[in-house]
Amino acid sequence: MKAEEAKNRITELSAEINKHNQLYYDQSNPMISDYDFDMLLEKLIRLEKEFPEFKMDDSPSQRVGGSVSKSFNQYTHKNPMLSLGNTYSQEELNDFDQRVKKFANVDQVEYVCELKYDGVAISLIYKNGVLDKAVTRGDGIKGDVVTNNIKTIRSIPLRLKSENIPDELELRGEILIPKDEFIKLNAEREELGNAPFANPRNAASGTIKMQDSSVVAKRPLECFLYYVITEEKNFESHYQSLEFAKNIGFNIANTMARYNSIEGVFEFINEWAVARDQLNFEIDGVVIKVNDFALQKKLGFTAKSPRWAISYKFKAERVETRLLSIDFQVGRTGAITPVANLEPVQLAGTVVKRATLHNADIIEQMDIRLNDLVFVEKGGEIIPKIVGVNVEARDSESKPLKYITTCPECGTQLIRNEGEANHYCPNQLSCPPQIKGRIEHFISRKAMNIDSLGEGKVELLFDHGLVNKLSDLFQLKYDDLLGLEKTFVSEESAISKTMSLREKSVENILAGIAKSKAMPFPKVLYALGIRYVGETTAKKLARHFKSLEELRKASFEELIEVDEIGDKIAESLVAYFAADGTQEELDLLRDAGLNFELGDEEQNASNILEGKSFVVSGVFENFSRNEIKALVEQNGGRNVGSISAKTDFVLAGENMGPAKLKKAEALNIPILTEEEFIQMIEY
Ligand code: IVH
Repeated sequence: MKAEEAKNRITELSAEINKHNQLYYDQSNPMISDYDFDMLLEKLIRLEKEFPEFKMDDSPSQRVGGSVSKSFNQYTHKNPMLSLGNTYSQEELNDFDQRVKKFANVDQVEYVCELKYDGVAISLIYKNGVLDKAVTRGDGIKGDVVTNNIKTIRSIPLRLKSENIPDELELRGEILIPKDEFIKLNAEREELGNAPFANPRNAASGTIKMQDSSVVAKRPLECFLYYVITEEKNFESHYQSLEFAKNIGFNIANTMARYNSIEGVFEFINEWAVARDQLNFEIDGVVIKVNDFALQKKLGFTAKSPRWAISYKFKAERVETRLLSIDFQVGRTGAITPVANLEPVQLAGTVVKRATLHNADIIEQMDIRLNDLVFVEKGGEIIPKIVGVNVEARDSESKPLKYITTCPECGTQLIRNEGEANHYCPNQLSCPPQIKGRIEHFISRKAMNIDSLGEGKVELLFDHGLVNKLSDLFQLKYDDLLGLEKTFVSEESAISKTMSLREKSVENILAGIAKSKAMPFPKVLYALGIRYVGETTAKKLARHFKSLEELRKASFEELIEVDEIGDKIAESLVAYFAADGTQEELDLLRDAGLNFELGDEEQNASNILEGKSFVVSGVFENFSRNEIKALVEQNGGRNVGSISAKTDFVLAGENMGPAKLKKAEALNIPILTEEEFIQMIEY
């Protein structure tokens, strides 16, 4: 390569890597796979080695990744948080093994294999056995102090379970959010109109950087330990040090294993390359570490990573297939989601036919066009995704994709609000999927819980013109329903099935609808399906305004005065009440007997503490102990008398007994101050 060309290529690659770094770390929205990213970085490093004169001072090859945020105190790591050298090939692992043996001048080396957890690195510093600081990796040199957030994680002991602990002890590990909890969290976010997290790692990283630790406490984070750093020479090997960590209360994955040869390491890798799908957390490879500490010391570190460890990264399984068409789905709030129809293709054990394309921006950024050959990947991830386009194979006639401008279901002109990613169909009143979606939401378990109706029956009622709006449900009569029929044809198998309403189901439907009239006001408000008004927001609004009559009178200014109601929600409420037909519809629902007022027993209450048990102890500043206990119950929590392993929180006032305190710490039960508790219930 000529010098001029190399210079340009280095500039281009740096810009590209910087862009992806930003998408990954700052916007939590990676556009390319880790593998592609690593390949770009590798190319840059190779060119910079060959042409060092063109290496820029701020080249992305020098960054460990991750930026330091401003709102936390910063801490300079005593030992920099380095990264690991990584490879995707077993051949390079053999080279690593050879290097280690040559260096140590031995024929056999013992390796420890661990999973490479795909989360966020954390450094935990204990002083005299008590958690003193938890610091993120930041730029590797300096990180954010996020101790309060980390203290909410049950698998991190606040006090270590042993007498023989060095005065200062640093441990490192990875914070993760389990896959099932990630799915739940994203569903809640989408319901509130927040952008979903791109993957569990971004969810974990976003969570530990939150300013409000009471919100963190509600997200079920996990921590796996993988490194113990201590000044004292207490251990001979890495394995021993992790066993020690396990004994003093840390979570060490029982997947860790020792091998005397690189062949054993390959077995471990091959096993987890398949079994990773069964784990409830994401891993992106395997870490191989020299076990013996003396040998580790001899091998030492390069500027960036230890010479005694390497990570083997799994290549996400990737296939190429053709993009046949794009469906534009219309959600219950009118939001349009483009979904790619793909030529069916086998990928990691399943046949992939469809993949979401999220929104118009993503299509534009990737420049995806109809009939393109696209790359689809499934790593340990949950849902397969399109990660790129084979531009070279593209037909020269192909044109950039034009995003739709009208609703595919009702033909109405679409709108896109400034700053929002999705297009919307504004025709709330008569766009069929919006009507059906709204009714399905209304009857759903968390809303009016009319379980005698379901998706199929809603479709049946809609098709027969019996239900076009929510209030129509309350006008249904026995004779309207009896004998109604609809034939459903399954897309997959072309098998058709006819649903026909008989006496029993008609009775059940009518009984379910009648029973729903007893649902409390916050549920009714949530059930209306107002954009951005999820369960929690509905409760907040209900508690503040006490009745629908008051809420529907509220101005934008009055709405944003309510704690945690921002411009977006307030605008959405104003638009909902002003929309054609809303006022008449609300009158019809009220006349049908729905609960439009907060009951006495619900004033001030929430179920934010549902399922959580509390031990309340000591003297408090703002409340008596009984008042605090009443608050626990009013918010759905349970008071228990004594601390056990099942206790979720200890609420500690002044003068809490030392025995109780010790027990709580020994069992790793989070101890809340009065202030933290009040924050938690958002009193
Ligand atoms: S050991 C000095 N072990 O991978 C070596 N790291 O690229 C310290 N990681 O920042 C790292 N699982 O966040 C180690 N079992 C494991 C790991 C692991 C995940 C992460 C860690 C680190 C990054 C290195």
